[in-house]
Amino acid sequence: MVTSACWAAFLLVLYCSITYSSSSPYASSLCNRELYAPHWKLRSDQVTILMSGFAERRLPLVRQIARSYSVSPIVHSIYILWGNTSTPWALLNHTDLVSLGAPVYVVRQETTSLNDRFLPRPYIQTRAVLICDDDITIDVDELKFSFQMWKENDRRIVGFFPCSHEYQLQLKTWIYTIHPDRYSIMLTKLMILATEYLYQYTCAVPHGVKEYIDSNMNCEDIAMNFVVANSTNQGPLLVNGKPRDWGDTRNSINDLSSSALSAKKQHRKNRGDCITAFHQLWEGMPLRYSFGKVINSVEEQVFCEKHGSLLPCNDQSEV
Ligand SMILES: *[C@@H]1O[C@H](CO)[C@@H](O)[C@H](O)[C@H]1NC(C)=O
Ligand SMILES: *[C@@H]1O[C@H](CO)[C@@H](O)[C@H](O)[C@H]1NC(C)=O
Ligand SMILES: *[C@@H]1O[C@H](CO)[C@@H](O)[C@H](O)[C@H]1NC(C)=O
Repeated sequence: MVTSACWAAFLLVLYCSITYSSSSPYASSLCNRELYAPHWKLRSDQVTILMSGFAERRLPLVRQIARSYSVSPIVHSIYILWGNTSTPWALLNHTDLVSLGAPVYVVRQETTSLNDRFLPRPYIQTRAVLICDDDITIDVDELKFSFQMWKENDRRIVGFFPCSHEYQLQLKTWIYTIHPDRYSIMLTKLMILATEYLYQYTCAVPHGVKEYIDSNMNCEDIAMNFVVANSTNQGPLLVNGKPRDWGDTRNSINDLSSSALSAKKQHRKNRGDCITAFHQLWEGMPLRYSFGKVINSVEEQVFCEKHGSLLPCNDQSEV
C-alpha cells in the first residue's frame, strides 16, 4: 500500500516534470509518454530480462544463458540487446535461440552508444526489468529471491555487484572504490529495477550526462544509479547470491601482471572522474549509502507443529 502510494506520487511528479520540459531537446518521439503503458498497467508478477551482448564469440554462451532464464516462471520474456552493429543479420538469425518457457528475442541496437541499453521499449510488459551482461549467470532460485526483494523495494535497484563512491578531501574529487561495509552503486552486470527508470534515464537526465557517457564510453551504469538515487533518496539493495561471472578473470587465470593492474587503476580513475562529472551535472550528490545485504535463509526458519510445539521442520528428534 505504502509503496503504491509512493509510486503514484512519484509518477505524478515525473509526469509533471516531463510535461513541463516537453520542449527540451530530449523530447523526441522516443520520449512520447503515450508510447509506454503506465506503471500500474504493467505486470507485477514477472520480470523482463534485457541482456546486453556484443562479442560474437560469446554467442553460444548468450544462447545458453537465455535458455536457462527462460525456464523460470517469473520471467516474462528475454531480449538480447545486440550491441555490435557490424554483426551481419544472418549470423544473428542463425543463432537458434532455444526457449524452455519465456520467449527469447534478439534486438539489434541501432547505435553503439552505451546509453542505448537503457532505452525505454514499448513492448516491455512488466513493471520490473532485469538488466544483465552476457557473461553473468544466476540460478533460478536466486533470480526468484532477488525479484521478491525488488517487489518489496520497488523503487530501488536490487543487485549483486556493489561499489562505492567516496570523497577525497585533499584532491576535492570523488573516487570509485569498493568499501568493505557499505555501498552506493549497483553494477549493471546484473540488477533489477523498475521499468520506469528506463524512461527517466533516456528522457530526464541532466543535459550533458549522456554526452559524457558517449564520449568516454563508460559509466552508463553509474548514471543509472544517480537517476534512481535522485528520485528515491535511497541507496540500492544488495542481495546475497553466487552469480557466476564468466568475464571475471578470477574464473580463468589470475592476471596479476603489471599491465593488468595498471589498467585496473586507470579504470577506477576513469570511473571516479565520471562520479565527479555527474556530481556537477546533477548539481549535487544524490548517491546514498546502503549497508548489509539480504540473505535468503527463510528455509532455516520454517517451523512445523509437532506434538503441540513448534520445532524446526528439519529437526527429526522426537519430543
Ligand atoms: C563485431 O562484428 C564484426 C562483424 O561481424 C566482427 O568482425 C567483430 O569481431 C565483432 N566484434 C566482436 C567483439 O565480436
Ligand atoms: C533476420 O531477421 C530479421 C527479423 O526477423 C529480418 O528483418 C531480416 O530480414 C532477417 N535477415 C536475414 C539476412 O535473414
Ligand atoms: C533530483 O531530485 C530533486 C529533488 O527531488 C529534483 O528537484 C531534481 O529535479 C532531480 N533531478 C533530476 C535530474 O532528476
